[in-house]
Amino acid sequence: MHSLSFDIETEEFLRIEKVLLFSGAVSVTQTLGNCDVFDEPSLFEIAKWSTCRIIALFNTRSESDFALSQVSETFQVGTLKQDELSDTDWSKSWKEEWLPQTFAETLCICPSWCRPPDNSLHIVIIDPGQAFGTGSHETTSLCLTWLGQNLSLLDDACVIDYGSGSGILGISAIRLGARHVTGVELDKDAIVVSRDNAIVNGVQEKIAFVEKIAPEVENAADILVANILFKPILELEPIFHRLLKCDGVLLLSGILASQVDRVVRAYSERFSIELLQTDGDWALLRATRL
Ligand SMILES: C[S@@+](CC[C@H](N)C(=O)[O-])C[C@H]1O[C@@H](n2cnc3c(N)ncnc32)[C@H](O)[C@@H]1O
Repeated sequence: MHSLSFDIETEEFLRIEKVLLFSGAVSVTQTLGNCDVFDEPSLFEIAKWSTCRIIALFNTRSESDFALSQVSETFQVGTLKQDELSDTDWSKSWKEEWLPQTFAETLCICPSWCRPPDNSLHIVIIDPGQAFGTGSHETTSLCLTWLGQNLSLLDDACVIDYGSGSGILGISAIRLGARHVTGVELDKDAIVVSRDNAIVNGVQEKIAFVEKIAPEVENAADILVANILFKPILELEPIFHRLLKCDGVLLLSGILASQVDRVVRAYSERFSIELLQTDGDWALLRATRL
């Protein structure tokens, strides 16, 4: 197997993909280059988001060479890199990077091709895919650990997972005893992925994924988990206040340690809020609705 990779303007993806497939590519993958999902860039920085990395796989070197010549003649692309991958390794090595991860000793997030450790009491199957949320990012793992440590709060609770991505937090909450979860997610593609994940885990009857919660819904959640960006967290304070029951618990993640003070200031009027934990640069805050 031979790979060809290079950076492109994201808007060129579909045109370049066609050329690669025409040249014999058996797969074409698009990955974000230097963009972190948690970046909150200025307009200048947003320009960087318009680039991505493309990786095409070919059965033969001549197909890869042909694709390289086609692409470099037709498009303005970054440096093209060719590699030879051993047939057995190229798919295996990708999968080998994903292992079961255990949180709070009993909650195991497990790719579908792995066997969870024998002592896993609560297993959630999540395959790495198009939606954010595999458990490997610190902001997700902080939330998963908290969920695993707070079974009594979760027992029979109504939970909202705001910014649900792959559905990992909501599905885990059901596994850990929640009665019902509503996942809220802006990204329609992520909603499709999260619904599939709910079915794979057999919890689809207890979890709903929506783009928005109707404005008339209030005092609905015992627990609201939000692993989203700092700016939406500031803006969503009124919505979180409306959705939570009195004394309901709000878990805020996706916040850099340097941003904690500003979040505390924005929430302290109507919530009792505290910093629970940090992991690297990331902070987890817990707030109780007053
Ligand atoms: C960092 S990911 C977290 C995904 C998953 N909950 C986890 O913990 O791994 C944040 C998700 O929030 C979504 N999001 C951001 N702002 C949002 C908003 N205002 N309403 C709903 N979803 C939002 C993004 O599309 C993204 O999927």
